[in-house]
Amino acid sequence: MKKRIIASPDMRKAASRRKEATIFKPASFDKKEALEALVKGEKYYIHTYGCQANVRDEETLRGLLDDIGYISTNNPKEATLIILNTCAVRENAEDKVFGEIGNLKALRRQNKNLVLAICGCVVEQPEILNRMMDIFKEVNLYFGTHEIPQLYELVYEARTSGEIVVAVESKPGEVVEIKPASRSNQYKAFVNVIYGCDKFCTYCIVPYTRGKERSRLFGDVLNECRQLVAQGYQEITLLGQNVNAYGKDLNEGKDFADLLEEVAKLGIPRLRFTTSHPWDFSSKMIEIIAKYPNIMKFIHLPVQSGNNRILKAMGRRYTREQYLALVKQMREKIPGLALSTDIIVGFPNESDEEFEDTLTLVDEAKFEAAFTFIYSPRKGTPAAKLEDHIGKETKSTRFQALVKRLEKHIEAHSDAMVGQVFDVLVDGVSKNDPNMYSGYTDENKLVHFRGDESLVGKIVKVKIHESHTYSMIGELVNG
Ligand code: SAH
Ligand code: SF4
Ligand code: F3S
Repeated sequence: MKKRIIASPDMRKAASRRKEATIFKPASFDKKEALEALVKGEKYYIHTYGCQANVRDEETLRGLLDDIGYISTNNPKEATLIILNTCAVRENAEDKVFGEIGNLKALRRQNKNLVLAICGCVVEQPEILNRMMDIFKEVNLYFGTHEIPQLYELVYEARTSGEIVVAVESKPGEVVEIKPASRSNQYKAFVNVIYGCDKFCTYCIVPYTRGKERSRLFGDVLNECRQLVAQGYQEITLLGQNVNAYGKDLNEGKDFADLLEEVAKLGIPRLRFTTSHPWDFSSKMIEIIAKYPNIMKFIHLPVQSGNNRILKAMGRRYTREQYLALVKQMREKIPGLALSTDIIVGFPNESDEEFEDTLTLVDEAKFEAAFTFIYSPRKGTPAAKLEDHIGKETKSTRFQALVKRLEKHIEAHSDAMVGQVFDVLVDGVSKNDPNMYSGYTDENKLVHFRGDESLVGKIVKVKIHESHTYSMIGELVNG
């Protein structure tokens, strides 16, 4: 098949950060009617990998497709449009995508009308995109994280042209407000506040795949939140790769603390935000979090390492001491705070002593939750060029040791919850036991309890009986 290259990714362009103001572009839906006529009564399938940014993108994709009468299905075999919305943050995330394309490609041979599309972060990497195109001749549409607004046009072209359509432009930064969104949950919502990332931590691919930091307008974010409150939503999570950079690219004189405060005032029962970088976490943010009871006392504050040389090599822009001072300030000013983090083990040439510093930081910070990762080199990032003298086995031993150390503190926190009553927003039937329901506390702890369907989407009181490190068992408290 011939290729129609509308735009190809370029790592140099993706890395460029011009100090221009964010460009706000109106959404224009070329080929909307044409596609609508073409796919009447047909079904689409989407599988998303990766972080909340991708989950929220899936909702936009679904919104656009639902809007023209395309019908969602969980069975790729009955779909005429399959979209894999991919993640590139670590190699194993990428491997999963290659595996799934391998499983799905036969469907293309059976149905010449099928559009098999790959979008999301993986296609933003030139080498990986080329490899994919070499291996999988069946994929007939590739589009990047910036091309979601062109969905109708791209699907139409892939469907009708008989060519492989490639539209991945590494552009510095635009914001397009797209109204239709099919939310995956009726009481918990993600709201984007800032796209992209300008931090360029040396190990991380995200600034290349998601582009420049660009904020949505203050009023646009507030309007979306206001509508969610009116629709009865119980929880809003404000999203960004680094929410505390919010507003820096706008001339509105507003920062993330202002936004947090205004959204809290709308009266949403639960307000969360993720992710915040320790580097520009302001005292004003801490004050606002402490002041409003509906801002959840849960902060995800990735530390990555407890050693200053490694932090510097990672480009994290804070020291161990600064991080711990911030934690101290947060814990003093925000009673009942639960702190979660991300840690990477085995950054190139991390010594035993340097790793030990991460363990002692864990002891000092006493995180209530954590995500741990083994370093995965990402082509095109500065860290991937470092020669690494630490073996896989050492990394995996350290990983186990770190998990053990984290669990000691997480367990202590969980054990202390036993006997106490917590507010739980009920998600539905528990994944491990069909007789139980489950949901999360304000502090983001998973709780299982006996309940019924009428409680789903409501905030109930649950008394904790049993602690299981990562989840708790409790019982409903009347009233
Ligand atoms: N913007 C967010 C998270 C981005 S990715 C933040 O800065 O917190 C989520 C986590 O994946 C990161 O916090 C980091 O711990 C991990 N991660 C990113 N790149 C990685 C890599 N190359 N190898 C292993 N873990 C990585
Ligand atoms: Fe990646 Fe660092 Fe940006 Fe987070 S802040 S997305 S880890 S570059
Ligand atoms: Fe993955 Fe892209 Fe998110 S790389 S973690 S889906 S920003």
